[in-house]
Amino acid sequence: MAADPDFDRAAEALIDRGVDGSIDCAIVLGTGLGRIVEDMVDPVTIPFADIPGFPTGEVSGHARALSYGTLHGKKVLIFQGRAHYYETGDPAVMRVPLGMLTAFGSPPLILTNAAGSLKPELRPGGLALITDHINLNGLNPLIGDTGDGRFVPMVDAYDPHLRGRLTRAAASSGAHLGEGVYMWFSGPSFETPAEIRMAKLLGADLVGMSTVPEVILARRYGLRVAGISIITNMGAGLLGGTPNHGETRDVAMAATTGLRRLLRAFLSEL
Ligand code: HPA
Repeated sequence: MAADPDFDRAAEALIDRGVDGSIDCAIVLGTGLGRIVEDMVDPVTIPFADIPGFPTGEVSGHARALSYGTLHGKKVLIFQGRAHYYETGDPAVMRVPLGMLTAFGSPPLILTNAAGSLKPELRPGGLALITDHINLNGLNPLIGDTGDGRFVPMVDAYDPHLRGRLTRAAASSGAHLGEGVYMWFSGPSFETPAEIRMAKLLGADLVGMSTVPEVILARRYGLRVAGISIITNMGAGLLGGTPNHGETRDVAMAATTGLRRLLRAFLSEL
């Protein structure tokens, strides 16, 4: 694939700010999960606004930023806060942040998110490994892309090898990790109970407003990806679920401990 000048410009900005070129793992932190960064040793933090091609703006009052440093002995690049389709109307809003990872040797990419659960055994506060996804939004971040590379195969999009490593890390760390198929809803409004019943019928176990376009972009650029959902609520109408943003953020924050443990075991063994 031809090098993309946008990716090179973003990578140069990172190198100028002290990212020395080696990244063992990149991690995107979803809503309420920002405290993971506290576990890093000597992080360099770079606001998205200082990196060409990165989305700007705030999430829940915090500026988005990248943090680069050591986490459990590995060099890690953490995206604190992603940009969502619903903010801009652009499903490719994360194109440069993810594509520029190719300039750093294409490290494995762990995408985390807050999600609603459609499965009785996946309860709020728990973690679930994403095994596959459903995208019926009629949106795709590669619309308008050119060349044969846009016809990205999506079998095993959620890398089986990384999934195996995360499953083993969960077992060794004592963090419970369920599994499920994630369905992307554009948001920002939550689903109706009828939409949740439809999603269940179609085979979804988790619903959320992110991740899917990022996985498609990451696969376009040849990155290996895993997705982890922090279950913040039952889907609308299930077990009395009435999801809202405050609950999503608060439950995700409370569930960070399990994710911390899982990442510690995963990175230590990477
Ligand atoms: N729906 C969509 N997105 C979400 C949910 C949900 O129930 N919970 C957390 N993010």
